[in-house]
Amino acid sequence: MPAFRLDGKTALVTGASSGLGAHFARVLANAGAAVVLAARRQEQLAEQVAAINDAGGSARALTLDVTDPDGVQQAMSALSADGGFDVLINNAGIAGEPKKFLDTDEDDWQRVVDTNLNGAWRMAREAARHWVAHGTPGVMVNVASIYGLRTGALKVAYNVSKTGVIQLTRSMAIELVRNDIRVNALCPGWFLTALNADYFATESGQRYTRTIPMKRLGTMEELDGPLLLLASDAGSYMTGTEITVDGGIAHAPI
Ligand code: NAI
Repeated sequence: MPAFRLDGKTALVTGASSGLGAHFARVLANAGAAVVLAARRQEQLAEQVAAINDAGGSARALTLDVTDPDGVQQAMSALSADGGFDVLINNAGIAGEPKKFLDTDEDDWQRVVDTNLNGAWRMAREAARHWVAHGTPGVMVNVASIYGLRTGALKVAYNVSKTGVIQLTRSMAIELVRNDIRVNALCPGWFLTALNADYFATESGQRYTRTIPMKRLGTMEELDGPLLLLASDAGSYMTGTEITVDGGIAHAPI
């Protein structure tokens, strides 16, 4: 399926030092893209970069904290001057501490919203500015969540941040369509990563797993097809939309 290939493209993935982001970088590299892995933790990034290069791909690291406006601008200017990029996978995110709404304090709220929503907005704006300045097309995939479409208990800030990412996706898509920039969102259900490993090790986490219509968590490979569809020319008529990959959670009876 040549339309799903990314040969000759450069893809930037944020939050690529672990979990879904590291996996997405490998998938994009296997599809032929040169990948730039961005995150805060240099050692973990170096390991992921080496694994892709050792497997015959092309990868490099970009140290970047999505909550740091100056740092993002500097990193993105450097990347822009160093050949640029064609695809942004806006993936960096945190879960925040599970808390009741009444117990949420300023710090809980700010940390989650600043990383998941403000960080995604900041990266998206810099990417779009880069593509518009160079007159080149661009593709953005924003990693939202099933909790951007429905609520999840003890995670008000997370729910709101991911709903914001979906609205950001729709709003940007309509403005940027004239610049040949496509923007879509990927909404995963539950996939075992560092973000949620502690929770799924508990009795409550295992009980929750049994409420998923498919009665199991997703495997990262089950996101590969949807990711490549949105990132490649196979999705050339898609913009401003979201794809849900959740084992049926979105429509499960409560
Ligand atoms: P993870 O904790 O394994 O990975 C998150 C990545 O984001 C890490 O590389 C971390 O270093 C990076 N990151 C966090 N804050 C950052 C910052 N300020 N600047 C730069 N990088 C930063 O978690 P996971 O599960 O891989 O999550 C990735 C994305 O997928 C997140 O946006 C998350 O909300 C989303 N997601 C995950 C689901 C899951 O079941 N694992 C389900 C739905 C959405």
